[in-house]
Amino acid sequence: MLKRAAITGIMGYLPDDVLTNSELEKLVDTNDEWIRTRTGIEERRILRKKGWASSDMGAEAVRGLLKKTGTSPDEIDLLICATVTADLIFPDNANTICDKAGIHNAFGFDINAACSGFLYSLTTGAKFIESGMCKKVIVVGADFMSSIIDYTDRATCVLFGDGAGAVLLEQSEDDTGIIDSSFGGDGSGRAFLHMKAGGSLRPATVETVMNREHFVYQEGRSVFKYAVRGMAESIGLVMNRNNLTADNLNWVVPHQANLRIINSVASLAGVPMDRVMINIHKYGNTTSGTLPLCLWDYESQLKKGDNLILVAFGGGFTWGATYIKWAYNGS
Ligand code: UT7
Repeated sequence: MLKRAAITGIMGYLPDDVLTNSELEKLVDTNDEWIRTRTGIEERRILRKKGWASSDMGAEAVRGLLKKTGTSPDEIDLLICATVTADLIFPDNANTICDKAGIHNAFGFDINAACSGFLYSLTTGAKFIESGMCKKVIVVGADFMSSIIDYTDRATCVLFGDGAGAVLLEQSEDDTGIIDSSFGGDGSGRAFLHMKAGGSLRPATVETVMNREHFVYQEGRSVFKYAVRGMAESIGLVMNRNNLTADNLNWVVPHQANLRIINSVASLAGVPMDRVMINIHKYGNTTSGTLPLCLWDYESQLKKGDNLILVAFGGGFTWGATYIKWAYNGS
């Protein structure tokens, strides 16, 4: 029988520095009321440690995860890092994180699927466990969004924050674990959410820098519509094919981009908001970090056997949902 992969530990890392809505009021023409009512965000964390990048946040989460789960770094076979803000365009962050966390027997690679990156990485990691190729896999979501945000653009600078989360995957001994995923993609969506320069299409030049093209560009209203549709469709699909209903689904764990998107998706799925994990008010949109940081924040409330659906939407466009039967009591 196919052995499932189960999450057996979670750890998060958030920088200490807090950027509040009132501080943003001093940078751009915005206000606390607009940000709260349009997005649900009250504050976000910003990485200001000199010399630190996304891999350092990832490595902090991984070191904490190894300690918390009593795992030796030498036991890890594979580390996957979801990120859109790797330290460098190449090499990947995953191997840098392994190096910084003292993991020497693993191979690693990054996955770039924007805000769906953690979900895609989680399923990819699970496949390496299910196939028997790996025994212990770490999946990290780490993004240093403030490094690619234009703090003169009010349409994007209020939305994002920095942070990282990591989970340990091991073979499940019972019926718990990662059970099913449904993913979708639509490359035409790249028009609405992208970074204009810095890749092979438009390498960095004085002109691209002067034109502020190395930052996140988003047409929010269009992305909003696609996000609600993509997340609602994939959550519906995964619920249907696994006989999940609003009654037997314990938690929805949504990507934290906008509280209004989360409300719409929960309402379309018929799930009451007290069973939806939310931390957007504290951290904003941390891109690859949102899902593991939600699981970390709510870990103490999770019980073995709980039915969870993780759901995300991001640049690409990429989207999807994953059904997990939770493997341990969090408290
Ligand atoms: O995580 C990856 C995927 N990303 C998402 O899922 C994000 C999806 N989009 C959104 O969350 C929302 O579209 C935003 C929060 C980005 C924007 O909210 P919105 O309700 O869609 O606003 P809008 O872009 O339609 O703008 C409405 C008004 C505009 O003014 P006018 O043209 O009506 O006069 C904007 O200029 O709000 C204005 N506005 C702001 N006002 C104050 C835009 N940003 C701000 C701001 N403060 N920060």
